[in-house]
Amino acid sequence: MKLIHLTDTHFVPQPATLFGLSPRDRFDAALESINADHSDADLVVITGDLAHWGEVAAYEELQKRISGFKSPVVMMIGNHDDRAALRTVFPDAMNDGSGFVQGSRVVDGHRLIFLDTKQQGTHAGAYCEARRAWLAGELAKGEEPVLLFMHHPPFLTGISSMDMVTQQDADALWQVLEPHSGRIRHIFLGHVHRPIFGNWHGISFSLIPGLNHQVPLVLEPHGDDIPGSYEPPAYAVVSVGADGLVIHLNYFLDQSRRFPLDGYEVKGREYALGFPASEG
Ligand SMILES: [Fe+2]
Repeated sequence: MKLIHLTDTHFVPQPATLFGLSPRDRFDAALESINADHSDADLVVITGDLAHWGEVAAYEELQKRISGFKSPVVMMIGNHDDRAALRTVFPDAMNDGSGFVQGSRVVDGHRLIFLDTKQQGTHAGAYCEARRAWLAGELAKGEEPVLLFMHHPPFLTGISSMDMVTQQDADALWQVLEPHSGRIRHIFLGHVHRPIFGNWHGISFSLIPGLNHQVPLVLEPHGDDIPGSYEPPAYAVVSVGADGLVIHLNYFLDQSRRFPLDGYEVKGREYALGFPASEG
């Protein structure tokens, strides 16, 4: 199975920019890159914060583009999204039967489960009893390996401002997951707008950069003022095999020079030591 993971597209009504950047142009560049190099993906998953202010006009910008993918797309929501506005533009958006934008599907023998962690009125994440009951039901549907997708990380990252708006009820979520932890192979995350990897209760996770703006690595306590940065956007290319899972980040806007690392074997030691001056 091959997946593409995108997150935090933060669309705004056009022609506006957001923090001096164009979510639309960046999305278009990612779309072009994915279609050019990864059109064989089984699924594209966007893990929330589709629109910065949850506006209908912003979802309409996304809607113009979503059919451009050559692979099926799953759209999740994050703290910046608005369920009603999303459904106005995407009436077929996921619905768990209680109005939450969550669902699951089986792909290549794996159950992919997409959680709605938005809590109205806060940027922090929550996963209420109704949602936990739905998740327990999804996990009980079979014994296949599980890939979990959620917007908010259920752990602290060390970036104080983002930790203040992280998942607030991670222990309750873990109560639901723990009986199945042996078959949960990975958790895919967004929200923090930077690359972070590790494990939670022994389950590996990947948290990837956003498509528009980023959050720099600031590990000193800084209250609730979230710092922003122009670090490059990326999407993830995920290969899922029988015995493991490999994730690559693709910094799709990168246009820096590419060159043969083993050129010195042909051109001599000076090629490497003098580079790039010797190449003009
Ligand atoms: Fe975000």
